[in-house]
Formats: sequence, C-alpha cells, structure tokens
Amino acid sequence: MLRVITSLSDIKQSIKIFKGNQVSIGFVPTMGALHEGHLSLVRQAKTENDRVVVSIFVNPLQFGKNEDFTQYPRTFDSDCELLSKEGVDIVFNPKAPEMYPDGFCTSVLLERLEDKLCGKSRPGHFRGVAVVVLKLFNLINPDIAYFGQKDFQQTVIMRRMVADLNLGVNIKVLPTIREIGGLALSSRNAYLGETEKKDAICLYKSLIKAQTMVNSGTKNFGEIKAEMEKIINNCKSAKIDYISIVNPETLEAVPEVHNGDVAALAVRIGKTRLIDNIILIFFIAIMFLSSYS
Ligand code: PAJ
Repeated sequence: MLRVITSLSDIKQSIKIFKGNQVSIGFVPTMGALHEGHLSLVRQAKTENDRVVVSIFVNPLQFGKNEDFTQYPRTFDSDCELLSKEGVDIVFNPKAPEMYPDGFCTSVLLERLEDKLCGKSRPGHFRGVAVVVLKLFNLINPDIAYFGQKDFQQTVIMRRMVADLNLGVNIKVLPTIREIGGLALSSRNAYLGETEKKDAICLYKSLIKAQTMVNSGTKNFGEIKAEMEKIINNCKSAKIDYISIVNPETLEAVPEVHNGDVAALAVRIGKTRLIDNIILIFFIAIMFLSSYS
C-alpha cells in the first residue's frame, strides 16, 4: 500500500522503522509530473531494494527568478496512482515552508562543476539541486538513489557531492527514455505545441549526428559542433543555448573527443528550454569490448 507522507517528522519515523527492520531503501527524487523516464528509475529501484521511496517536490531553490516555477506541471494525484501501480511504498511530498523555514541559508556549492553547461544560463540552479537532494538523503537515508542520464550534469554533481561529503549513498544512473522519434521524455515537453514537439526532435538528431561523425573518425569538436548547429538551425522554433562535448567527470570542454566523452546541449524550442546528451562511444572500442564478452 502506497503511503503519502508530507511531514519531516513522519518520514524520519518511517525510515527509522525500515532501518530497524534492516530493509534496504531505494530512493527516487523527482519533481512530479511523472512519465516513463521517472518510472524506469522506480522500476529499477523496485528490483534492487526491499522498500522504495519516491519524493515529489517542486523545489523552489533550483528555479531562477524568471524561470517556470509557478507554471511547472503539478499532477500529484495521477502521479500517486502511477506510483501505487508500480508498488512504491512511500511518496514523500514535503511542503516548502517545512523544507526551507525562515532563516534557512545553507547552500551546497560544487566549485568548477556548477557553473559549466546548464549552470551558465541557470546560475544557482545546481546549488538548489544539491541542497535539496542532500536534505532528502539526510531524511531518507537511502542505500541506493536513482537518477536519469537525461540530466547529465546533475548526475555528475550528485556523484561528486556523495564522494566529497562521504554520504554513503550508492548513486545509480539509468539511460534516457525517449519517444519513438528520439525526443527525450521530460515534464517540460508538456509546454510544447504540436509543431514545436516535431521541431524538438532536432536535439536528438544532432546528437546522433555527433555519434555518426565520431564513428567515421571525426574527433574535432569544432567540426562536430558545426554539423550539430546546422541540424538545429534548420528548425524555425529552435534557438541554441549551448552545444558542448565534455569530459564526463570534470565537465571540462574537450577540443578533441575521447571515448566516453559526453556531447550535451540545451536548446530553446519556442519558450521551452530542453536539454539532452549522448555518451560518445568509439566504434572501435565497442568492437574491442565485444571481442571479450
Ligand atoms: P525531475 O526533472 O522530476 O527528474 C527526476 C529524475 O528523473 C531525474 O533523475 C531525471 O534525470 C530523471 N528523468 C527525467 N527524464 C528522464 C528520461 N527521459 N529518462 C530517464 N530519466 C529521466 O531532476 C529533478 O527532477 C530534480 O532536479 C531533483 C533531482 C528531483 C531535485 O529537485
């Protein structure tokens, strides 16, 4: 039976009981408006843990002043129905005044990671993410926490925070779930009109172009970027925020691609800012690995 818990004291109490019974806890932090991407994390958590906790909290600290905090889709009742069907044990749905009471002023700053990629156009965003996830980890004390590759920079920041602060949570990152055409599922896709939704496929197309170029031996970032830009600029409603290829741990931009580097981009489709990424794998490396499997 799914339990909805809103108060911090109640979640602490329930977690204490789980811990007393020595059951393992899988945790999926979300902002709700759930789709198959979120559910893929929930399903994995179900298979690997005795109990699964999902948080639904539209975290005000990670939205900039002119961002979509108030419009962000809130579909709590249908989210709970979905989570109940998946056999989730607890939905934690805290309220902002209890998470951030008067006087709250602590921040979690990941130097050199938070100001790259999305951090450039969303200053303060990753501090907001890091602080809320740290609070949630402290309240829920999970064995494993699940994140999507879709928010690549977020996963890098989570792994770093856990390592730097000795949090003892195992971070698992699962692949991006996409629509048939390749568009990455996102709660923000709900903002897109019909034509915009078609245009939005340009993000994935440009990432596939990058992988194809790498397959045929192109390593130079400038050359790859130029081709990706062509694809995106072909879409009327698209405006590039950034295109980058980075080292997957430091997020430093690389002039020449290495196996495992990540091509990442943010593009505005009309008023909606979308992100996507792909791990660039050298074809030769795939052949090499498969000869050992
Ligand atoms: P939210 O955007 O709701 O995403 C919750 C989790 O679902 C994240 O780990 C995200 O990467 C994952 N996710 C979203 N779309 C996905 C897709 N298409 N395929 C696979 N996974 C996907 O990310 C956040 O919330 C917040 O920043 C949060 C971590 C909850 C902190 O507030």
